[in-house]
Amino acid sequence: MSERLSERGPVAVVSGGSRGLGRVLVERLLAEGRRVATFSRKPNEFTEGLAAAYPEDFLWESVDLHDPGAVRQFVKAVKERFGTVDLLVNNAGLLHQELFLTIAPNRIDDLLVANLAAPVHLTQACARLMMRDGGSIVHISSINAIRGYRGVAVYAAAKAGLEGFGRALARELGPVGIRVNTLTPGFFDSELTSDVTERNREKIQHRTPLGRLGTAEEIADAVLFLASSQARFITGQSLVIDGGITC
Ligand SMILES: NC(=O)c1ccc[n+]([C@@H]2O[C@H](COP(=O)([O-])OP(=O)(O)OC[C@H]3O[C@@H](n4cnc5c(N)ncnc54)[C@H](OP(=O)(O)O)[C@@H]3O)[C@@H](O)[C@H]2O)c1
Repeated sequence: MSERLSERGPVAVVSGGSRGLGRVLVERLLAEGRRVATFSRKPNEFTEGLAAAYPEDFLWESVDLHDPGAVRQFVKAVKERFGTVDLLVNNAGLLHQELFLTIAPNRIDDLLVANLAAPVHLTQACARLMMRDGGSIVHISSINAIRGYRGVAVYAAAKAGLEGFGRALARELGPVGIRVNTLTPGFFDSELTSDVTERNREKIQHRTPLGRLGTAEEIADAVLFLASSQARFITGQSLVIDGGITC
């Protein structure tokens, strides 16, 4: 990487930056002065607006998590454009709520690939670029990884896998200056959770000590903390942010 590129600000890769938590992260990382690369399957007004507003500092590509080769190819494009990666947020995720005894085999594979295999491939490709100058990786898990809920067994398996992956990786990558942490959010409003019924929403609220659902902004605060120098001695950890519902 040339000196000129590294002087132009740190580079963050955020998977799934077109909406929900990813969108908030992309906005805030750009506002912090980082260059940001993100992907999703489809562009939208948000990604197109940013590409026009930040022609040098923002990269969006169409990538499907179900194609790990395309995920790796995306990191090559990031390297060509920005030269390096300092922060990876493994944010993109997929949720089908289906009972385990009847979920179709291809849906099982979809959940495992999108929520576990693809983030592992993305992490390896990005970590190789972080080797020289160090960096930070944050995996977005879910409280489903640490508590049992009906209808999400495969999603829970993938997210629990991601947390274990993060802990083991922190040991391997700490010596080269790369921190790896996991953020474990409770329920917050987004398209991913748009089919949760009003009744279930009320139940979640009722069971949450802080008496309400979280917001993507609150989850983003915690991600940015883990990514920041304030967390420079934190690695291999999972931070639960759920208004206390799992306490
Ligand atoms: N919302 C919650 O209550 C909640 C709770 C705990 C954990 N989480 C976790 O938080 C993270 C963000 O969730 P969110 O609620 O912000 O989700 P969201 O609003 O559904 O956004 C998901 C993002 O990922 C992209 N994406 C989805 N499937 C993809 C695929 N196959 N390939 C490439 N990109 C894909 C989406 O764009 P495209 O559709 O265009 O591809 C979008 O940009 C996820 O890991 C989720 O599991 C969410």
